[in-house]
Amino acid sequence: MAEARPGTARGAVRLPEPSAGEAITAARRRRVEQAADLGSYSDLDLRQWKSYDDLILGSLWLLGPRDKSGPHVGDYWGNFVPQIPQQLMRRFTKRGQVVLDLFAGMSTTLIECRRLGRRGIGVELAADVAEAARARIAQAANAHGMATRLILADATASETEALLRTALAELGRDAVDLAILHPPYHDIIRFSDDPRDLSNAPTTDAFLAALRRAATLAIALLRPGRFLALVIGDTYRAGEWQPLGFEAMHVCRALGLQLKAINVKSIQGNERGKGKRENLWKYRALKEGFYLFKHEYVMLFRKPRG
Ligand SMILES: C[S@@+](CC[C@H](N)C(=O)[O-])C[C@H]1O[C@@H](n2cnc3c(N)ncnc32)[C@H](O)[C@@H]1O
Repeated sequence: MAEARPGTARGAVRLPEPSAGEAITAARRRRVEQAADLGSYSDLDLRQWKSYDDLILGSLWLLGPRDKSGPHVGDYWGNFVPQIPQQLMRRFTKRGQVVLDLFAGMSTTLIECRRLGRRGIGVELAADVAEAARARIAQAANAHGMATRLILADATASETEALLRTALAELGRDAVDLAILHPPYHDIIRFSDDPRDLSNAPTTDAFLAALRRAATLAIALLRPGRFLALVIGDTYRAGEWQPLGFEAMHVCRALGLQLKAINVKSIQGNERGKGKRENLWKYRALKEGFYLFKHEYVMLFRKPRG
């Protein structure tokens, strides 16, 4: 009996190597398929790739100071900088498509939807926050005439799906093209007294279970092949670094999403605890043997095509 060659199963038939011409054809076909894939969810043109120098393609996000060119105000403690939804929408949506933000807060995402010509749907639990956000959205330039909806609801409740499907139908769409989740980082900032608020989850397990319900809702509405971004940071608990971001990542992967990126975003200049408190934290870090948070995560997932 002939010896099996290394790397082939004993007795398996070995296919001939493709000729140089065939290999070029296969590579060309792959390039065409990749361009078609990008074109299915984004207005970016692969042939122009060198001109997109303001688009972040690395996993270290140094966004610099807050973009103050719209009606955004950094007064809502816990809002993200507009550059985050800008980057995500430009890469992962086409003009006119729908972006869903399940923890809308002051609606940075919906404001950017108007400015970048995307339809937007947000969900926010706190009535006063939603009211203030609606006033801010109304001030945003809307050159492309894009409709946005901010729904006062619980992103973890199954009944919210019907509200979101109605909003989608009103926008003339049947699915969401990009989902953004920027939940509380558990109880780091308490957003309200509402027990349904993720910042009031009594334990980490309860927080992750609530996040799982919200992610399940987002996935149900997300078009297959499209992206979900999770913006989250870690915490300290009982003297230990708690990798909340990675725990949340596991929740998303367990729901069947493909992990595409763990981007580390600098929060330098925008940290929790500035001024005198920062000095106190530095002192405590040195004394107690820990490091101060200078980053959070912008994790990217893709819903399989099915
Ligand atoms: C980190 S903030 C999001 C800030 C937002 N990205 C912005 O730029 O303003 C989290 C938001 O989630 C809201 N929230 C907490 N639990 C919620 C729930 N169960 N359903 C919907 N919103 C919730 C909080 O009220 C808070 O406004």
